[in-house]
Amino acid sequence: MSKNVTLVEVGLRDGLQNESAQVSSADRVEMAKMLVHAGVRRLELGAFVRPDWVPQMAGSQEVIAGVFASRTKDKKMARVQYSALVPNERGMTEAIQSGIKEIAIFAATSESFSKKNINCSIEESFKRFEPVVALAKKNKIKIRGYLSTCFGCPYEGKVSEAKVVKLAQILIRMGCFEVSIGDTIGVATPGQVESLFKKLKKVIPVKKLAGHFHDTRGTALVNILAAYQLGVRVFDASLGGLGGCPYAPGSAGNVATEDVVYLFDGMGVKTGLKLDELIKANKWTAARMLKALPSKVGKVGELKTLGKVN
Ligand code: HMG
Ligand code: MG
Repeated sequence: MSKNVTLVEVGLRDGLQNESAQVSSADRVEMAKMLVHAGVRRLELGAFVRPDWVPQMAGSQEVIAGVFASRTKDKKMARVQYSALVPNERGMTEAIQSGIKEIAIFAATSESFSKKNINCSIEESFKRFEPVVALAKKNKIKIRGYLSTCFGCPYEGKVSEAKVVKLAQILIRMGCFEVSIGDTIGVATPGQVESLFKKLKKVIPVKKLAGHFHDTRGTALVNILAAYQLGVRVFDASLGGLGGCPYAPGSAGNVATEDVVYLFDGMGVKTGLKLDELIKANKWTAARMLKALPSKVGKVGELKTLGKVN
């Protein structure tokens, strides 16, 4: 198994979806370009969800069109695997029209979160995915799966590991090439991560598992390390640590891409991303959001010169 990791950049979706600033489609395209030039190879561009529910994701069609237009002139833009979130058949129809070649379906492990987030029970959500999956297969579109609230639900508290494992298996059986295990509200600690991923690995090949850690309580990086030590090699991260989930009260953004890159750089694990370029993208985005982004490394940068040790 390679020691290197792949980061799935979710700042344009998970990040922007929970920010009060509405970023224009043109700026979202520009942000995508900066991320790709920083080395991002897997990039979520938006979501085909109800614009009255998540107004920040309106215009995802336009963002995808803008990014795709740049592919003819820019080799780096052309080699990226782009993706978008799809909750149901209506969203899938729009995804197909956009020309996107990867979608992500998303389910929850707790009924209350499922209802608040996608307005249906867990069982209904899987029924809604059936036509989505059929259309994806027909149109040769790859399907990623997200499972939310795997370490705790903002409404119901603790979640059973057995339930997480069962639902993750269903997503794989439906045809997801990968399932991203979400700590939606950032409650997990490394012991919990180790325990859950050990159980998941017994039934799902580890190369099909990804980690999606929000940083609400400052444990995202240690959780990533715990999952890495168990062989997980794909992690979701958001530029600057932007965002969160609008239906998970108090949840902070995803772990910041810059912080994850700094961690792995220091461990000699390749991510393919350049920290200085990410920091430029962070500053550019912060100027548009009119606030500093939460990322720690994004704020202070790298240690460029080592002082003399006496
Ligand atoms: P619904 O109201 O149950 O849908 O919404 P419906 O089928 O009953 O339709 C009602 C109306 O909505 C109809 O319009 C539909 O056409 C329209 P009307 O006939 O009344 O004029 N509609 C749509 N419009 C646009 N796009 C669509 C769509 N579907 C129906 N796709 C739905 C269900 C899921 C769409 C809604 O609840 C929704 O948009 N929820 C937002 C979900 C969301 O984006 N959440 C945040 C992302 S998930 C997340 O952040 C977690 C993650 O990061 C992992 C982690 O951290 O754990 C992935
Ligand atoms: Mg999330």
